[in-house]
Amino acid sequence: MIATAFTRQVGVEVPIICGAMYPCSNPELVAAASEAGAMGIIQPMSMVYVHGHDFDEGLALLRRLTSKPLGMNVIVERSQKVYRERMERWVDRALEAGVRFFVTSLGNPRWVVERAGVVGGIVYHDVTERKWALKALENGVHGLIAVNNRAGGHAGPKTPEQLRDELGDLGVPLVCAGGIGDERDFVRALELGYAAVQMGTRFIATEECRVHPDYKQAILAAGEGDIVITEKVTGVPLAIIRTPYIDRVGLKAGWLARRMLKGRRTKHWMRLLYSLQAAWKLKKASLKGSAYEAYYQAGKSVAGVRAVEPVGAIVRRFAEVGEAALTD
Ligand SMILES: Cc1cc2nc3c(=O)[nH]c(=O)nc-3n(C[C@H](O)[C@H](O)[C@H](O)COP(=O)(O)O)c2cc1C
Repeated sequence: MIATAFTRQVGVEVPIICGAMYPCSNPELVAAASEAGAMGIIQPMSMVYVHGHDFDEGLALLRRLTSKPLGMNVIVERSQKVYRERMERWVDRALEAGVRFFVTSLGNPRWVVERAGVVGGIVYHDVTERKWALKALENGVHGLIAVNNRAGGHAGPKTPEQLRDELGDLGVPLVCAGGIGDERDFVRALELGYAAVQMGTRFIATEECRVHPDYKQAILAAGEGDIVITEKVTGVPLAIIRTPYIDRVGLKAGWLARRMLKGRRTKHWMRLLYSLQAAWKLKKASLKGSAYEAYYQAGKSVAGVRAVEPVGAIVRRFAEVGEAALTD
């Protein structure tokens, strides 16, 4: 056990979050992280649309696999009514199943704070700079996930040190997201003053993660320099592994797409089109491997990932090394 403000607040043994990942979060991965003493985060779109579980059935499976604390990712940005209503329904079902931790991203987290608050739930918001952190705190969140410039997926512009300096005085627990590949990175983050880490990339290269073996091998083979930023998938910068496929297609969005993304009238449609395209391409790549378009999201933490391992072995090793280093 490593006690921090985070572990005390959410009731886990080890200050590690297995971050939400579309399309890599399958229930078996999420449950394994929680069962090992960390906090597994359900990514509902991934569970339902990539891994094919009905939401309630997926929750029931998670609950069969672990009775320990679970979290859920709520992307609050989308303003379409159908999306919002479905998310509200999913949050309610998760609360009924005993989920008490939520990681919100992109929009205003207030409705999640209010709904979860009725049963004492805790909400942390993903932020990349102080401006967004202050907004999230005004809306009642209990902690912040500081997404840095080494993260997989949509990375922020700042280093872990800069974010600690910018957010450290806000009086809530801070989680370091990005760049944690091995136990030394984990210890360094705790020594910097973070209350926990959120890892994505490290947990893809595990036995429980159901992505194609090509994706896991690409993570093992990659070094820091192989992580590149593409605009081609979501229309905003996304960290992926450079593969022969990526070399062929390049990293920049086409001129027409770029113009439409900037246009006052066209940008909303273009963003919608991009998010549908991204959901499709990322799902296919993760399930079909290099036989499809090899868009593999990952962060610079690939440098510390050397083997496909069981989730429990990773969490235990990090916990042991962390405990020894911090009691030195
Ligand atoms: C494949 C992949 C998919 C991701 N999808 C999501 C997501 O759906 N929602 C979210 O809030 N964060 C998402 N993230 C961010 C992770 O939760 C986490 O913050 C990030 O991976 C940390 O950086 P690391 O990959 O260096 O460990 C994703 C990251 C990766 C690598």
